Amino acid sequence: VPGDKSISHRLAIFGALAHGETHISNFSSAEDCASTLACLRALGVRIERRGNEVRVGGRGPEALGAPEAPLDAGNSGSTLRMLAGVLAGRPFRSVLTGDASLRRRPVERVAKPLRSMGARVTSTDGRPPLTIEGGTLRAIDHRMEVASAQVKSAVLLAGLLANGRTSVSEPSPSRDHTERLLPAFGVAVTRRDCTASLEGGQRLRAASLEAPGDASSAAFLVVAALILGDSEVRLENVLLNPTRTAFLDVLRAMGARIDVEVERSDPEPVGSIVAGSSELRGTSVGPEIVPALIDEIPALAVAGALAAGEFEVRGAAELRVKESDRIAALCEGLRAMGVSLVEREDGFRIHGGSPLHSAAVRSHGDHRIAMALAVAALAARGDTQLHDADCVGVSFPEFFELMGAGRGA
Ligand code: S3P
Repeated sequence: VPGDKSISHRLAIFGALAHGETHISNFSSAEDCASTLACLRALGVRIERRGNEVRVGGRGPEALGAPEAPLDAGNSGSTLRMLAGVLAGRPFRSVLTGDASLRRRPVERVAKPLRSMGARVTSTDGRPPLTIEGGTLRAIDHRMEVASAQVKSAVLLAGLLANGRTSVSEPSPSRDHTERLLPAFGVAVTRRDCTASLEGGQRLRAASLEAPGDASSAAFLVVAALILGDSEVRLENVLLNPTRTAFLDVLRAMGARIDVEVERSDPEPVGSIVAGSSELRGTSVGPEIVPALIDEIPALAVAGALAAGEFEVRGAAELRVKESDRIAALCEGLRAMGVSLVEREDGFRIHGGSPLHSAAVRSHGDHRIAMALAVAALAARGDTQLHDADCVGVSFPEFFELMGAGRGA
């Protein structure tokens, strides 16, 4: 699987804020991460990219300059929200925008704390474009109502440029890459329970790091191996951070044969995953673990559709404001393939185990919906037609090629 998307965004942004040349290897091939690099270049950062090797010439936050045009984050919520945190601390006006999908997504959750730190931030009816007039920031204690790693990271990045100590608390743990990776750039971050805090004004030094394989991309290959007969997949050098691997725990509880081996753990746990054909049974995914598997719910829904009994997801209303309304898109696609299910405001309940049949299905321009339905199609009788499948490039451009490379494909 390609380098982790969440980690690649962060390494590029931290490298841009640091002093010296940051080297990133195995940088994600995702279009989303290319959007982050393009935005950083538009802010005056020198970036050289050769395939998956990226060099970021950081000259400190002071060197970031006003962009000549609106910054285009493409499809990437992480790019837009995390850069909002950085731009809040710079003394110029900038506009952050993105594609039609991103322009439908909520940004007040990041605009509000940045305003209370002293930045002037204007959204468009709560959505991008987002105009930021940054400057001198004051530290805050921010309590998030909904766990969000993007908002947490934006506030921590703004906190780095602020006077005083900023802290962010969340109701349940979201991915913690910002907290784990900032120390590799020389920044001290304190963590207790669901609160992270840091002192403003710390100087970042350049670093040399490798992005591990993307755990969320791995989820689709794991589920494919589980639901197909006589099948096994081995994934190496994959991110095994517990805030990203809750999907493996859910699959195990469903009876999946999965072996995980952690090979190193600093700054991020990394290792291998082996998964093979399994008889699956349904389970219930509740609100407390949703933040740790939010991006893997589309893949889990496919496992649920092929499992015996009931598979249920609750407390996942956030899925309605992702790259598409993922609850509606998943329910539409799976229903078209013969799955019996009930859609709810904050999730769905699948009555699994019936054979799937082929259908014409739509990705709604959402990479994870496209990959989930493609995996479901492997288990369906007949040829499934997936419309708008190119969007897989947003996170996993190699997806279809890899799927085609399997034995007997
Ligand atoms: C991400 C955080 C999550 C996730 C997204 C990547 C990140 O979003 O869905 O794909 O890299 O921080 P939220 O922070 O909005 O939950």
